[in-house]
Amino acid sequence: MSFSKSSSTRTDLDVTKLPLHVAIIMDGNGRWAKQHLLSRIKGHEKGAQTVRTIVKTCRETGIAHLTLYAFSTENWQRPKKEVDALMSLLVKFLESEHKDMIDKNIRLNAIGQIERLPEAVQRALDKTMTLTKKNDGMHLNLALSYGGRSEIVQMVRQIALKIKEGKIDPDLITSELISKHLYTSTIPDPDLLIRTSGEMRISNFLLWQIAYTEIFVTDTLWPDFTKEEFLSIIKDYQKRERRFGKV
Ligand code: FPP
Repeated sequence: MSFSKSSSTRTDLDVTKLPLHVAIIMDGNGRWAKQHLLSRIKGHEKGAQTVRTIVKTCRETGIAHLTLYAFSTENWQRPKKEVDALMSLLVKFLESEHKDMIDKNIRLNAIGQIERLPEAVQRALDKTMTLTKKNDGMHLNLALSYGGRSEIVQMVRQIALKIKEGKIDPDLITSELISKHLYTSTIPDPDLLIRTSGEMRISNFLLWQIAYTEIFVTDTLWPDFTKEEFLSIIKDYQKRERRFGKV
């Protein structure tokens, strides 16, 4: 795993070396709001606009999988007003974007403890996932009530149950078997993880899946993150030599 700060110059991309899967920790909505003397909720609203921009950019660039960390298991501990606003924003986003997702051949998927989300969010997710299930131009994965450790706990429980029922021989447990029991079973591991707003941490995101992922951290706050900076990070990624632990 290599770790660096991004540079912000944009040049043309090598379309033969695109990351197959980009994952993003969208951080900094609160700080952006504070800088602009606005409420944290306004920061999330501005963040939702950046989500639209980056989804569009990924689709245009030809990135096959985009996973966005939209709400963590830890985020439930935020004030109720902020959690409710984030949930409403999600419903609004899904309702306003599903037509565009159909037009742009984008398939929506959700990963995390979806059953913990309010009914209205679950309904909006179900509707958008059903409407887009045949799309294959790009996979947009929203991580919602997602935590890497709880994902691993549920995976261990599933495998343990199968062992108890005699369906799995413990000697045959492999990395591939573990991957198949995660929320991301149908998604390749991320090639590139981007974190906005400067913090050098993983925050319980895709813990198993990022074993060999290239990591870029930018100081830009998520609401200020642009198409140009995203593309410059992809360009930086293309200069990386990925060795997967080999020489
Ligand atoms: C982190 O910023 C961001 C979140 C907890 C939520 C991310 C949500 C969005 C970008 C908007 C809605 C999402 C979709 C998919 C429409 P923070 O509040 O932790 O910022 P801070 O660290 O500066 O306080």
